Amino acid sequence: MKKKIAVIPGDGIGPEVTRVAVKVLDAVAEEFGHRFEYQYASMGAEAIDKTGTALPDASLETCLSSDAVLLGAIGHPKYDKDPTAKVRPEQGLLKLRRELHLFANIRPITLYPSLQHLSPLKSKLLEDVDFVIYRELTGGIYFGKKEVNEDYTEASDMCVYTKVEIERIAHLAFQAARKRSNRLTLVDKANVLETSRLWRKVVQQLALIYPKVQVDYLYVDNAAMQLILNPKQFDVILTENMFGDILSDEAAVLSGSLGLLPSASIGTSTALFEPIHGSYPQAAGKDIANPIGAVLSAAMMLDHFLLKEEAEVVRAAVEWTLQNGFVTKDLNVENSYSTSTVGELLVDHITQHIPSAVNHRNIELRKSTII
Ligand code: IPM
Ligand code: MN
Repeated sequence: MKKKIAVIPGDGIGPEVTRVAVKVLDAVAEEFGHRFEYQYASMGAEAIDKTGTALPDASLETCLSSDAVLLGAIGHPKYDKDPTAKVRPEQGLLKLRRELHLFANIRPITLYPSLQHLSPLKSKLLEDVDFVIYRELTGGIYFGKKEVNEDYTEASDMCVYTKVEIERIAHLAFQAARKRSNRLTLVDKANVLETSRLWRKVVQQLALIYPKVQVDYLYVDNAAMQLILNPKQFDVILTENMFGDILSDEAAVLSGSLGLLPSASIGTSTALFEPIHGSYPQAAGKDIANPIGAVLSAAMMLDHFLLKEEAEVVRAAVEWTLQNGFVTKDLNVENSYSTSTVGELLVDHITQHIPSAVNHRNIELRKSTII
């Protein structure tokens, strides 16, 4: 199979983690006889520095003419300190989501038994936790009309949803539930918000088409609490843009590290794959960032290309590194490996250069010396 992949390394740790993900994709291509061609594009703070805009037209064109986009992360602290900044790195990502019509952001929450001790939750609560969040990504308060008055004493963000916008992601979420445990939870704030009441109405109507799927409705404040009290109750969570942003970060910590989790953003044509984590500027350039979120995002890309076996091979390599403790500092402070070494080990596993009995001594030598 031949695929054109746009790669946006972005800011902070983005370049380091995407480098690993690309190496993993190359290893898969070599093993299975595929050809992945990469075209690099700039976005975020680095694009602002170079061109003055967060998503240059050339980058957008590269993405539009590719089969998929692999994104590292974007964001820089210098913009966080200035709320009045007119150009911001996030604008690039939001524009890209809108232009590619990436209306569904899919964030699977998978727990690894070998990392349970890192979770802030008790092990008992974590057993059998496995769910996926379907977050609407191109509507709601993120994209509604924004206003600020002249003397900057009043501001507003409109939250708008249409039936069509809700239906298209709800269908995907129902279909996902059918393939999983047939349970779907709509998270909203229907006791207060008109948009949430529309979500409920539309989802109730769609539920008639998917009679096998049991639908529950939760207010977002309660959902935030339930994620901590009893996360195993969830199978597929469906929610609007901003609730999904907040709940997916909360859900991500259940796994022990935000650095582990991938996401896929699906639209009408080119899909985008990126780790859930941000640009983590404090770690940039230090070769310590966890590349697993980016690598698992590449695995989701392979799934999207219907390369299921290939995706499984990547996931197996990830599990192997986690089980054997070949992990970055966020997962083990005392015994850590660098970003690039974890990448090399993943590649070794995928290309079957690791014998079945792991040569620990050899790998020990690659252990990180950075403290
Ligand atoms: C995410 C991020 C983005 C969002 C930011 C960077 C605009 O937090 O992908 O979750 O809020 O959607
Ligand atoms: Mn977020």
